[in-house]
Amino acid sequence: MTRIVYVNGDYLPEDAARVSVFDRGFLFADAVYEVTSVLGGRLIDFDGHAARLERSLGELGMPMPMPRDSLLAVHRDLVARNSIEDGLIYLQVTRGAADRDFAYPDADTPQTVVLFTQAKPGLADTPAAREGIRVVSLPDLRWGRRDIKTVQLLYPSMAKMEARARGADDAWMIEDGAVTEGTSNNAYIVKDGRIVTRGLGHEILSGITRAAVLRLAREAQMQIEERPFTLDEARAADEAFVTSASAFVLPVIEIDGAAVGGGTPGPVARRLREIYIDESRRAAL
Ligand code: PDD
Repeated sequence: MTRIVYVNGDYLPEDAARVSVFDRGFLFADAVYEVTSVLGGRLIDFDGHAARLERSLGELGMPMPMPRDSLLAVHRDLVARNSIEDGLIYLQVTRGAADRDFAYPDADTPQTVVLFTQAKPGLADTPAAREGIRVVSLPDLRWGRRDIKTVQLLYPSMAKMEARARGADDAWMIEDGAVTEGTSNNAYIVKDGRIVTRGLGHEILSGITRAAVLRLAREAQMQIEERPFTLDEARAADEAFVTSASAFVLPVIEIDGAAVGGGTPGPVARRLREIYIDESRRAAL
């Protein structure tokens, strides 16, 4: 089956979809994106992703390309047209196509809006979720506005490759001695029953999964500390884990080659994953 993608109002077979070579997303990474997961044919945390999209666009002086209910309709249409049971929807909005110039083009330049699906059968039950992942630490060399979900993903991509080259699955990035986040996820440790994760700011992305998981953890009477934590603290933690829309909650079992806790997925990460997935399926749109 040919994948159907959405480009600027049209639903097209992927081979027929086109974006200009002058698109500012292509030339300047002048674009923001969202990734929303789909479980059982329904969208997880759509409202959170739509709200963050609006915020990211606003920080770059761009409007929402369409009202939220229309965006929801496009997401649902794509899920249906591609018969997605479990998978992801990628959305990108750019400042549009204009002759190359560092200055932004006129505000009436039409934005480029692209959405596509990725089928991921069994997304909620992956080997990584059962076995946990290994991470290595690398310096955080990204720009200073990581709270805006831009498509400037070259450094995270390089970090992921370096992690693979070192026999790991992902990297945790370090700045001023503290962990910021993973290449495409938020990072947590658990010590003496307390969940520690960096507070929000320009240094990290405000994860939609993070918000939901912290809310559910509070509801389950778990203790949470939102503060930076060091690599040494992470190495000495009882557990570590990451969260993202595509991975939900994933246990981290090794940091820089040293086992975390018992070197197997810990009870807090396992429980949070279970609660998050159950609750997300229940609230899915
Ligand atoms: N990445 N931090 C970074 C740097 C991210 O790229 C992501 C998401 C997160 C987690 O945010 P959320 O819970 O809203 O997915 C944190 C997506 C999944 C990606 O780039 O594919």
